[in-house]
Amino acid sequence: MDIRVLTSADIPHVQSTNITNLPENYFLKYYLYHALSWPQLSYVAVDVSRPKKTPYDPPKIVGYVLAKMEEEPVNGIQHGHITSLSVMRTHRRLGLAEKLMRQSRMRYLSHTRRVYHSERQTDLKEGFHEADARSFPLERAMVETFGAQYVSLHVRLANIAALRLYRDTLGFEVEKVESKYYADGEDAYSMKMDLTNLR
Ligand code: ACO
Repeated sequence: MDIRVLTSADIPHVQSTNITNLPENYFLKYYLYHALSWPQLSYVAVDVSRPKKTPYDPPKIVGYVLAKMEEEPVNGIQHGHITSLSVMRTHRRLGLAEKLMRQSRMRYLSHTRRVYHSERQTDLKEGFHEADARSFPLERAMVETFGAQYVSLHVRLANIAALRLYRDTLGFEVEKVESKYYADGEDAYSMKMDLTNLR
C-alpha cells in the first residue's frame, strides 16, 4: 500500500471513492480547489499490489483524506479542516485511515511517578505519545506552511467508526454538538485537535 500526496490525476478516482463511501459529495472543482490551494494537505492510499496492465492503467485508490485550511475562520484563529476521509470497505480495519492521517504509529511512552503526601505515597502512571519526526505530515504542513493552531472536523453522531478513529486513536476532542449540521438533519460532533505541540 502506497500513501502519497493527492495529485490532480487522482481526483476522479477520489471522487468515486467518496461517492461510494459517504453521503457528503462534492463537485470535481472542489477537489481541484483543495489540490491546487493546499497541495500538501491531501493524501491518497493506493493499492499497488495489483500489477498495471498498461502504463495508462488508473491507480487503484482505496482511501483518501481531503484537507484544507479554513479560509475565513470565524474565531480569527488559523486552523486546518479535514473535509473528508474514507476508506473502501474492502480495505477497512487495516489501519489505513490512521495512516492517512498521521503516516506512522506513535509510540506510547509511560513511566511511574511517585507522589508523596504527608504520610502516604502514591504511584501515578503517566504517559504521552511520542511521534517520530516524519509523522503527521499533513498536520505539520498545516502548522509549518499555513500557521495552523489546530485542526477541526465534523462527524455524524451515529458514525461510531469515525468517532473512535478521531477521538480514541488520533486524539481529537469533541468540542460541541452542532444541531442539524448535515443536509439530512443529523447532528454532528464538532471535533478539534490542538497542533501547537507540532510547532
Ligand atoms: N468500529 C469501531 N472502531 C473503528 C471502526 C469500526 N468499524 N473502524 C475504525 N475504528 C477505529 C478503531 O479505534 C481503530 O483502531 P483499532 O483498529 O486499533 O481498533 C481506528 O479507528 C483506526 O482504524 P483504521 O483501520 O485506520 O480505520 P479504517 O481504515 O477502517 O477507516 C473509516 C475508518 C475512515 C471511518 C472507515 O470506516 C470509512 O471509510 N467509513 C465510511 C466513511 C466515513 O465515515 N468517513 C469519516 C467521515 S467524517 C470526516 O470525513 C471528517
